Amino acid sequence: MPVVPDAAATTHASANELPAFLRACRSQPGDRVPVWFMRQAGRSLPEYRAVRGEGSILDAIAKPDLAAEITLQPVRRYGVDAAILYSDIVVPIAAIGFGVDIAPGIGPVVESPFASAADLDRIRPLDPEGDTGYVLETVRILARELPRQVPLIGFAGAPFTVASYLIEGRPSRDYAKTKALMLGDEPLWHALMERLTDLAVVSLRSQVRAGARAVQLFDSWAGALSPGDYERYVLPHTTRVFTEVADLGVPRIHFGVATGELLGLMSRAGVEVQGVDWRVPLDLARTRVPAGVALQGNLDPARCFAPWDVVADGVRDVLARNAGHPGHVFNLGHGVLPSMDPGVLAQIVDLVHAEG
Ligand code: CP3
Repeated sequence: MPVVPDAAATTHASANELPAFLRACRSQPGDRVPVWFMRQAGRSLPEYRAVRGEGSILDAIAKPDLAAEITLQPVRRYGVDAAILYSDIVVPIAAIGFGVDIAPGIGPVVESPFASAADLDRIRPLDPEGDTGYVLETVRILARELPRQVPLIGFAGAPFTVASYLIEGRPSRDYAKTKALMLGDEPLWHALMERLTDLAVVSLRSQVRAGARAVQLFDSWAGALSPGDYERYVLPHTTRVFTEVADLGVPRIHFGVATGELLGLMSRAGVEVQGVDWRVPLDLARTRVPAGVALQGNLDPARCFAPWDVVADGVRDVLARNAGHPGHVFNLGHGVLPSMDPGVLAQIVDLVHAEG
């Protein structure tokens, strides 16, 4: 039995009907606008803090029963239309022994950052079962436990965003070292991107084979690049990630923060869904992506700290700017913040379902 109530029972959807989330990803009309939140699992939830334990998040991710439980928590609490695997973008690179951990309150930190061609040898191909068997076990548990109407989203870090952590050694504001390598040693840059592309492809393919029903590629920090540099140094690699998972037949979602000026390029990388942060209204974003590409977003996460009336106005504005287009997955423009009130997120889900 599913451990959360089957959404089909409450939405009159028949058992073989495509879930609302998958329909919207394919820009097919449905009976409601689906909604989920990036970082919906995590520190904003008291039930997460209760089970997470101490130590590195990488240890929690390596425990399939725990990781599956954490993935299910926001599905139970909010009634969201999709689940996102509890894992992290640095899991594959950490699993092959590059020497990366996630420091609480900071993010990914690398013991010995990537600096020269010799470091390429530290990035061997991923063996998904051998290196990340625990991730695939988590996916298998979730494929069994999630209701049919709530698909699991698998994900990977895009080559640029993962490279930025490997080169900077920790989260960065200006990406100076990353850009110095990218612009100063183009052959080495592309060689690094090739390896990270392979890692993303192999990881995504293994997640889908284990039961993920959509994939999202997080290029969270691509917005640091000009369109020209993005097109030359990043887009060919990202396009290969999407091309090499195309045959799996699951929707492909692409996301980055502050990528308003890159939406046209990013949405042409071979995707069904383009993520939009809160800086670009959806009606304007729609003019920047090809017809047939769905949009995902885009309420400003910080708006959730305002009084409810103001939050609700923001939700309604997002829906109004989408103007009933079938290709819309409601989300925040970036992740849930740890100090957010889960009660507000629950109200947002209800409002989107009622009015979307
Ligand atoms: O609901 C979910 O989205 C959970 C799954 C998830 C996590 N990380 C778990 C996590 C996903 C999809 C990610 C992706 C991820 N990780 C991205 C792309 C998404 C984005 O936000 O742009 C990035 C850039 C990372 C790297 C990373 N990992 C950062 C910047 C941090 C925050 C560090 C901190 O402590 O504030 C992490 C840690 C992390 N990954 C947490 C969670 C729930 C919080 C730390 C914890 O619970 O120990």
